[in-house]
Amino acid sequence: MKFTLSLAFLALSTPLCHAWGSEAHTTVGLIAQSFLLPRTQTFILSLLDSRYDGSIGAAAPWADEYRNTAEGRYSGAYHYIDTLDDPPNTCGVDLDRDCPSSHGCIVSAIANYTQRLGDESLGKDEQNKALKFLVHFLGDITQPLHASGHARGGNEVKVTFAGKHRSLHGIWDDDIPQYLLRSKYSDSITFWTQSLVDRIKANTLLTPKEEWTTCVDPDQAVRCATEWATDSNKYDCSYVYSALNDTSTDLSGEYFRNSVDIVELQVAKGGLRLAAWLNSVVTGEHGLSEDHGDRFVLQHPEL
Ligand SMILES: *[C@@H]1O[C@H](CO)[C@@H](O)[C@H](O)[C@H]1NC(C)=O
Ligand SMILES: *[C@@H]1O[C@H](CO)[C@@H](O)[C@H](O)[C@H]1NC(C)=O
Repeated sequence: MKFTLSLAFLALSTPLCHAWGSEAHTTVGLIAQSFLLPRTQTFILSLLDSRYDGSIGAAAPWADEYRNTAEGRYSGAYHYIDTLDDPPNTCGVDLDRDCPSSHGCIVSAIANYTQRLGDESLGKDEQNKALKFLVHFLGDITQPLHASGHARGGNEVKVTFAGKHRSLHGIWDDDIPQYLLRSKYSDSITFWTQSLVDRIKANTLLTPKEEWTTCVDPDQAVRCATEWATDSNKYDCSYVYSALNDTSTDLSGEYFRNSVDIVELQVAKGGLRLAAWLNSVVTGEHGLSEDHGDRFVLQHPEL
């Protein structure tokens, strides 16, 4: 019954196509919700637009709507870092080379909005915006093609997925998560979230969770975000580009199946890191709550 309520709630969000799609972003936010400390949750409730009812899962896709408004256009470059590397042969992030100070990148944006989230002198509106940006960018930074400048982050790589002409970037943002949701989770973001939260707790994803949160010090935001981007960027060489043999292959077959472990790992990482990050910004202490696995469900209001 809990599931039914939150499904109805989630059905209100519409898919977007410019970053990890809204499915992955929402899932990152909902996973994080399960690991927030009570003080962090209270802080979020006091800040977030009332339409989100305290749910950072519901607020997670906001930055994609915002970048498409005249007011928010400046934030477009904050969603990625254009690494000037050469996948699948060489991968790597070099902040001086890849993050132009003229318009910034996802690393500088995470540092900026982390600082702004904790700065009460800016006022609640600006802190609220900083929170929504962070919830989104800690998701995007785990998408391998948001840490790739090659062919504009794969936007210029034409592929076929389930019979449709798409870009490589587009299938990693949208088609792969959506196909996965449909084929394994009855098209339910709630089921996907629950499954990932369970596997985070059991530590049974592709890499151990201890490795995902080695850098969660908001005072070291540039260093941490650079580490996260470097971690995502590695998958561009190990799988995302290397597995592309030719354009005649429909990538909804073997390529999709081999991508699932990476996608689920990256979404889980984004969620756990986001919780650790927000807990640390709000409470000044490192910590994760493990006791509230169903908070993402309880958090949604009665409709
Ligand atoms: C930090 O964020 C503010 C508010 O969005 C923006 O005006 C400013 O340009 C940003 N600074 C950097 C260095 O990104
Ligand atoms: C590409 O070729 C390799 C080696 O033959 C194979 O293992 C892989 O599955 C292929 N990838 C795709 C997307 O067809």
